[in-house]
Amino acid sequence: MSFPVDVVVMAAGKGTRMKSQRPKVLHRLGGRALAQHVIDCAARLSARSVVVITGHGAEQVEAGLSAPVACGDHVAPQLRFVRQEPQLGTGHAVQQAAPVLPEDGVTLVLSGDVPLTRPETLQALLDLCAGECLALLTLDMPDPTGYGRIVRAAGGSVQAIVEHKDASEAQRAIPEIYSGIMAVPTRLLRGWLARLDNRNVQGEYYLTDVVKLAVADGLPVVAHRIADAVQVAGVNSPAQLAELERAYQRRLAEALMEQGVRLADPARLDVRGELVCEEDVEIDVNCVFEGRVELRSGARIGANCFIANAVIESGAEILPFTHMQGEKAGISVGPGAQVGPFARLRPGAQLGAHVHIGNFVEVKNSTLAAGAKANHLAYLGDATVGERVNYGAGSITANYDGANKHRTVIEADVHVGSNCVLVAPVTLGAGGTVGGGSTITKSTPPGALSVARGKQVSIESWQRPQKKKV
Ligand code: UD1
Ligand code: MG
Repeated sequence: MSFPVDVVVMAAGKGTRMKSQRPKVLHRLGGRALAQHVIDCAARLSARSVVVITGHGAEQVEAGLSAPVACGDHVAPQLRFVRQEPQLGTGHAVQQAAPVLPEDGVTLVLSGDVPLTRPETLQALLDLCAGECLALLTLDMPDPTGYGRIVRAAGGSVQAIVEHKDASEAQRAIPEIYSGIMAVPTRLLRGWLARLDNRNVQGEYYLTDVVKLAVADGLPVVAHRIADAVQVAGVNSPAQLAELERAYQRRLAEALMEQGVRLADPARLDVRGELVCEEDVEIDVNCVFEGRVELRSGARIGANCFIANAVIESGAEILPFTHMQGEKAGISVGPGAQVGPFARLRPGAQLGAHVHIGNFVEVKNSTLAAGAKANHLAYLGDATVGERVNYGAGSITANYDGANKHRTVIEADVHVGSNCVLVAPVTLGAGGTVGGGSTITKSTPPGALSVARGKQVSIESWQRPQKKKV
């Protein structure tokens, strides 16, 4: 059974209860816009296209969402936007998309504010639809207040969805609700959309009325009833957003543990992007990962670290309270390296094997070759540091002259003493030593001791000033 799938994402609503200037579907969950989760899910279903219906904050929403990336060998779905102005209900919303939905496919209707539906669940719904019937995703709820109820005939077949506000007392007692997600052959949907009216309590065009129309046309309506409420939970308020964030993080944590990652506490992990782990990775509590982070085998992350866009090689150890902010220029930490506690790695920090970066050391756009060490209170910016260099406490590269940045090259086996200023551009020749407290403005020859500071003077018979007697 194979038919093209076109996904419609409803995202025109206002989201009043978020009490925010930002359109609801752009609020972030796991570092991605709510609606981006929905769009990305379409790629995992190998959908042909995704049509996002925008209204409130349309321009912002359109600018804030991006096309999904291809999944496996499939072509990435095409992303399109359709405006709904004004918003006259969910049926009216899908009517706006109808002209761009090809007749040969199945339309899968999703909501931009329901981020955690699993692709497997949607695939099961599509399989049930089979390109022939109207398939609804439903769920039993202990408190179904506010939702559309699934009205079934005595034999169990679905007859209608009745909105809470339009429902009778008897209908309100039905626990089975419509999740807001349906799969429907597009050729049938089009006809039904044209027949919707707004004669109901809210005066809206309800998409849910297509069920009545299908039944009237003698077409089968099937329901895929699931038990996992998180998959159909929508975000309407900051509290619900926070709740779903935890549910999402819990899911990721479980998947990581399943894979062998040892999390000190799965409830204290935040992945706001993609975290890829090899075997024997250990992550202590309260770590935040952003963008794409790779932890190779045996890497260990201490408590309270923030790590963005970085690759941590095998056996490397990141000690507590380390901040690693890779951006476009990522960060790499070589095998067996040790970073932290309280270290700060910025974009373009490339650390080789067994490098040590200690407390209060900042590294930006710099390469440190194998075995180099900067253990205390130091700054390395725009520097190329050779193998086994020892970079003393309190030393800095003065890489910025107020207008331009310049490079500092420290060749292999150089020993930079404490509290040195290396005024770039400058090269320290291999094996050289720089005396503590030196301000180095000229390149130094290999092997030499370079000292650039005031000579020490001691005055033996010096008298301290005395207080004047009155
Ligand atoms: C809808 C369903 C209800 C279901 C519930 C599940 C209808 C009539 N009712 O109700 O049966 O139980 O979802 O959450 O469909 N939207 C637009 N344009 C509009 C109106 C809404 O794009 O004109 C979007 C919203 O932004 C939202 C989605 O459609 O993403 C659902 O709209 P909402 O108002 O939340 O529908 P409900 O009343 O909750
Ligand atoms: Mg709703």
